[in-house]
Amino acid sequence: MVISLCLALVTYVPLLWLVREADGVPDPVERDLLMRQEASRQTGGLLTLTPAEKRLDAYLHQLKEQEMSAAHFPPALHFFKAKHLIQKSTIFKLLQEMPKGGALHVHSSSMVSAEWLVKNVTYRPNCYICFTWDNSVRFLFSDRQPFPRWDCFYWQLLETLRSRIGDNAGFDNSLIQHLTLFTEDPNGEYPNQNVVWEKFEKAFIAATGLITHAPVLKDYFHQGLEELYADNVMYLEVRSSLCRTYELDGTIHDRIWTLKTFQQTTQNFIKDHPDFLGVRIIVSVNRALTVVEVKAAVKETIQLKKDFPDVIAGFDMVGRESSGSTLWYFREALSLPAQMGVSLPYFFHAGETDDEGTAVDQNILDALLFNTSRIGHGYALAHHPVAKELSRKRNVAVELCPISNQVLKLVSDLRNHPAAVLMSEGHPMVISSDDPSLFGTTGLSYDFYEAFVGIGGLKANLGTLKELAVNSIRYSSMSTALKDAALVSWRKKWDAFISKNS
Ligand SMILES: *[C@@H]1O[C@H](CO)[C@@H](O)[C@H](O)[C@H]1NC(C)=O
Ligand SMILES: *[C@@H]1O[C@H](CO)[C@@H](O)[C@H](O)[C@H]1NC(C)=O
Ligand SMILES: [Zn+2]
Repeated sequence: MVISLCLALVTYVPLLWLVREADGVPDPVERDLLMRQEASRQTGGLLTLTPAEKRLDAYLHQLKEQEMSAAHFPPALHFFKAKHLIQKSTIFKLLQEMPKGGALHVHSSSMVSAEWLVKNVTYRPNCYICFTWDNSVRFLFSDRQPFPRWDCFYWQLLETLRSRIGDNAGFDNSLIQHLTLFTEDPNGEYPNQNVVWEKFEKAFIAATGLITHAPVLKDYFHQGLEELYADNVMYLEVRSSLCRTYELDGTIHDRIWTLKTFQQTTQNFIKDHPDFLGVRIIVSVNRALTVVEVKAAVKETIQLKKDFPDVIAGFDMVGRESSGSTLWYFREALSLPAQMGVSLPYFFHAGETDDEGTAVDQNILDALLFNTSRIGHGYALAHHPVAKELSRKRNVAVELCPISNQVLKLVSDLRNHPAAVLMSEGHPMVISSDDPSLFGTTGLSYDFYEAFVGIGGLKANLGTLKELAVNSIRYSSMSTALKDAALVSWRKKWDAFISKNS
């Protein structure tokens, strides 16, 4: 059967041009035109590549073909199983070198690797630890033995505990386990979304006592910027609740202190790294709060934005969408800026769900009704045709965080991520990392890898990468003047990257 088919094809080919209409074989010229039309619609599809860019593109294409035909294709695997394969990938190494622009969806409490928290922060003096009844940990810096708390009966000085155990490597690994989701057996350990989200929230709480210690916060934020910079990310929009911080003697600093610390640390960082473009903050509150609390937070953020216009980008609601309330539930709070006649840009997480038709699924449309500037995740967007049209028309970019979506169990094989549809249509989009410390990533390169190789597939090309990087500046909250300067600076890096690698 196979042989006769092949023969049939061979005899067909020379005839194609002569009899194509008569025998019903579509016109190959027309076919070619359609294929090019489709390719032009994808992210970056309208960019014209320079000869040097074309050479690098051809190389990337060839590398991608090789990776796709390997026994284990990383985007098809859980990231925890794929990470070491990705690290070996030549495409990944190129992505690390590529100037990626800005990271627009990262949470401040999960932006630094857990390894740094354990190896650096927990080795500082006066650090106490306590093990909770539900197999989690709490940390506290204190100049005296801390009092028992509702969640912690017995605090031990870490230094003493470490010397008693006598196995720093093993002990540190166990601490790292408490601060990330990483495990050798993700599918066994996290059978469903509830289990993985429970661990996710526990890890957040465990890190709090370390990060909110005032002297640590400065170094922590600096380290976060170092990790982004090392991955060729030049700008950050960080979501933060601006937690209050504490000193060794129990003194508490207010949220303005935290904001100013971010601001000063950024300024210091730019002194040492003049090509870093800056940080802006998206003030975030948990969607588990009440309407009254969110109203207060919105008002406070309006004031903060007035007092720190260069630092505050806007407002967002965070936390698991299906556990907290919907945007519509908070409508009275979220319409306050419009009622007061002031501007407070929104950057809503919305549609981080695979439950179609639920109230959470409707968050996307509501985010757009509240004039959101971008959509965090927008995992559900592909099946909301009206929301999709609106988001495209208004240039509201989707912040795609592939590894987050996979680890939090919305999709297992990243080739099946719904953003494949959005990418093939050139929907406004940026790539980000969400919670790098929890997922075991640093910078944006891992997420770029998954988006470029897995979600975009063979047809995503260097133009796609270029457009995604430019998008991160275009769809940022920077002023037009800053965006122009940022694009000039990015462009220089891009040209250097191309000439080095083509
Ligand atoms: C921890 O980080 C700080 C600031 O980045 C650095 O000065 C210090 O030497 C580090 N300490 C350890 C123990 O690694
Ligand atoms: C959204 O924008 C429209 C058009 O500019 C405006 O009329 C409306 O009040 C805005 N809605 C909110 C909730 O800000
Ligand atoms: Zn997020």
